[in-house]
Amino acid sequence: MQEFSKIEPLRNFLSTCRQEGKKIALVPTMGYLHDGHLSLIKIARNAANIVITSIFVNPKQFNNQEDLINYPQNLERDLDLLKRHNVDGVFIPEASEIYNPNFESHVFVENLSKNFEGAFRPGHFQGVSTVVAILFNIIQPHFAVFGEKDFQQLRIIEKMVSDLQFNIKILRAPIVREPDGLAMSSRNVRLSTNERNVAVLLNKALFAAKDCYLDGEKNPKVLCDFAKASLNSVKEIRLEYLELVEPNDLSVAKEAHPSTRLIIAAWVGNVRLIDNLEL
Ligand code: PAF
Repeated sequence: MQEFSKIEPLRNFLSTCRQEGKKIALVPTMGYLHDGHLSLIKIARNAANIVITSIFVNPKQFNNQEDLINYPQNLERDLDLLKRHNVDGVFIPEASEIYNPNFESHVFVENLSKNFEGAFRPGHFQGVSTVVAILFNIIQPHFAVFGEKDFQQLRIIEKMVSDLQFNIKILRAPIVREPDGLAMSSRNVRLSTNERNVAVLLNKALFAAKDCYLDGEKNPKVLCDFAKASLNSVKEIRLEYLELVEPNDLSVAKEAHPSTRLIIAAWVGNVRLIDNLEL
């Protein structure tokens, strides 16, 4: 596996790959890799000849400095995992390699970035779309893989690619869950044992609402209230939102149907978790 911290050698490597007719897939990450990331790498591997992973804890997408400082990192372990999963190249830039000192250009996907994560984490999606656009311009992959766990982020990237005419196919990776259903996330490591036991209630609430839908309930408010009821009395959980949304524009659904999605964000202690579930 080749390691790149600078843009130019990475571009040279990729240009040789392209001349040899190879297809390139990018898996952008912020490191502290888990099985969810590895599932993205598997999808990339199946789609392309060359798999590039980026590891960059992007300061511009953290609206909360404490979250940035506490974001877990373990580069040695990540590199070992990537090698063992046959990744061809890893891009690990310093922030100064991505953002020049006078950096002032941003990408913002207006409507999709407004609600939910966008409302609770001001500036977050502008940071995400901007860094992803930069990575796309540096790497110019044929494919890029994003997880459905960050469903709003996924939709924003898909919209950006379509609006800005990036010649890149976005591949979706389903959520990978722990055996008890908790969606895998690098942040899970920050949960105490008690919080970890409580965190499982978030996905349980979504699955319970889905069961309710499968039993015939079509009213989004009834479904969301049903899910919320199981969380409201838990003192460790502070719910930010729980909604049923349309899968494309993420507008609040007027009626439940199979492709509508329950989306949730909640604090469990000091850790903010998100999850979602298609009905
Ligand atoms: O989902 C993430 O890990 C990040 O938001 C991404 C896409 C790597 C951009 O920094």
